[in-house]
Amino acid sequence: MTTAMDDQAVAQRVLDHIAKGTTDLGSEVWREPVANYQSESRLKAELERVLRRFPVPFCPSAALPEAGSYVAREAAGVPLVVVRGADGKVRAFRNACRHRGMQVASGSGCSRAFVCRYHGWTYNLEGALRHVPHEEGFPGLDKSDHGLVPVTAEERLGVVFVTQDGPAKADAALPGLDRLLTDDQRLFSTSEQELEVNWKILLEGFIEGYHIKSTHPTSFLPYGFDNLNVIDIFGPHSRVTYPFQRIKKLEKVPPGERRIDGLLTYVYHLFPNVLVTVLSRHANLVVLEPLSVGRTRQHVYTLTNGGGDDPEALAEAKRDAGFVGTTGREEDQAVVKAIQRGLSSGANREFVFGHFESAIVHFHKTLKAALTV
Ligand code: FES
Ligand SMILES: [Fe+2]
Repeated sequence: MTTAMDDQAVAQRVLDHIAKGTTDLGSEVWREPVANYQSESRLKAELERVLRRFPVPFCPSAALPEAGSYVAREAAGVPLVVVRGADGKVRAFRNACRHRGMQVASGSGCSRAFVCRYHGWTYNLEGALRHVPHEEGFPGLDKSDHGLVPVTAEERLGVVFVTQDGPAKADAALPGLDRLLTDDQRLFSTSEQELEVNWKILLEGFIEGYHIKSTHPTSFLPYGFDNLNVIDIFGPHSRVTYPFQRIKKLEKVPPGERRIDGLLTYVYHLFPNVLVTVLSRHANLVVLEPLSVGRTRQHVYTLTNGGGDDPEALAEAKRDAGFVGTTGREEDQAVVKAIQRGLSSGANREFVFGHFESAIVHFHKTLKAALTV
């Protein structure tokens, strides 16, 4: 369980690794065919059988703070809109007008209804078609049968999950997790970026700390550790803990009084294509949207780490978000783009993931199993 108790258990595991010069080890080595990063048919299967059939985090609940708040974007190649209704419930719809398919919402905002820009058909927040201009032009139109088409939406632990197609391969349960994002976290920035890299290569870069010394010698290594991580598995999901050097000060604190705030970074991988990174004063929900085998759109939702509407918490989160990891992020992106270019070299038929890369092993195992059933 990730509770305050769990934080203390993680701290103890980190301190033990520091004392012994060890790290968490996986039990197996995984060989992933390079063709799986290049194959159009594999990507099609990933989209149709995994990304559209699993509950996939769409945005943080904090992106929908009030009735009428909506977020529209493509997920697994399908335009969707999620919206919080007057009843407080989050609903998701295929973002296509029931007249001739125009998107009824774009970007994010707050609205009392969705009015299609093309001819003005109007839907309420529950997706019902409420108004058709010059309705006499559509004799026999059954408005009750022309609402926006719903898809399954569920809110769990501060995250909105969307399952596009049935039968769903799982529910949105987060086994073993009782905390992720909380009510007192506020969304203060969203961004998107397209990268010339397969979505799985981008993902792999987030969930192992074996590369810290080589890739981040001046950005992360001076404050963190080389190859020292605590790795936990939650059903199909995982969490990699990246401690900072300053966590050593907890050695002198009685175990029951240890607070880990600011002493480590948690990176949650929510299967299949989403990460939640919890840093000192801010958190990111990162969605990796495959656009093609070699191209991914990365959506980043950045939140405070708590403090509700306290302006000080917001200012601190903004400052840290603007500062932390800019160089590190550039270093990571340079690596994943280079890996993508190397795919076609033919040098590797497989990539090998070792005992330090167990969260990636868990991902590939889970993905393979999800594609096979
Ligand atoms: S396509 Fe939406 S009103 Fe015509
Ligand atoms: Fe990195």
